[in-house]
Amino acid sequence: MAGVRNIPEIMHRTLFRTVSLLGRGQSVVLGRYFDWWHRTPDPWKLATDEYEHYKYRTTLEQLPDRPYRSILDVGCSEGVFTCMLAENYPEARVTGLDISARALERARARGRHLADRLSFARADLLIPTHNDTYDLVFCAETLYYLGREERLRLAAARLGGLLAPGGLLVAVHPWPEARRLHGHLDSAPGMSKISEHVDEGTHRPFAVSIYQAES
Ligand SMILES: C[S@@+](CC[C@H](N)C(=O)[O-])C[C@H]1O[C@@H](n2cnc3c(N)ncnc32)[C@H](O)[C@@H]1O
Repeated sequence: MAGVRNIPEIMHRTLFRTVSLLGRGQSVVLGRYFDWWHRTPDPWKLATDEYEHYKYRTTLEQLPDRPYRSILDVGCSEGVFTCMLAENYPEARVTGLDISARALERARARGRHLADRLSFARADLLIPTHNDTYDLVFCAETLYYLGREERLRLAAARLGGLLAPGGLLVAVHPWPEARRLHGHLDSAPGMSKISEHVDEGTHRPFAVSIYQAES
């Protein structure tokens, strides 16, 4: 499988590709799977792992300096990066979205001190639930759970639809797999890639790709 480096990752991608054959049942399975995965707090150690924090800082460094007012973090897990966004952008309303209700319970507890402008909602990225748009949308370390190309194409359309005119979408995934995961974003109508930063200086290289919606 192009861009996937080792046997556990190949098995991981095969598992989620198989789940994506379920049609609408994919959403139910992913919801249950990620609730189970979050059976213990912070399963990916996002709050404490130095690599994750390096990736968060590197992501924020790529952003054009703009007065962002509405920010969405898709696949926010327990809200570590979402809270960082609310702290870094004190003028913005920030929303975290995830398919796992259990992850979101912990995200709400983590962001309690910012609750006047930080909120969390349960939703499947692939299933439209509202018409809100945002001037900054993040989707990090999430697209490889969606499986088949057709699901990635749908995700690209959904993510594009979440952008306000001129809004930015920031996708962050392992490199070189990001070439495939971001491929449908590259060709999605209504937005264009304005930058791509590839960081190969760590044990797990990653790409930060930024897309801008038409004004
Ligand atoms: C590896 S975590 C990434 C957390 C965060 N974005 C980061 O980079 O620190 C992936 C998250 O995506 C969520 N997720 C997976 N599929 C999803 C979907 N279809 N819709 C919404 N969230 C999803 C999972 O529940 C999980 O919390």
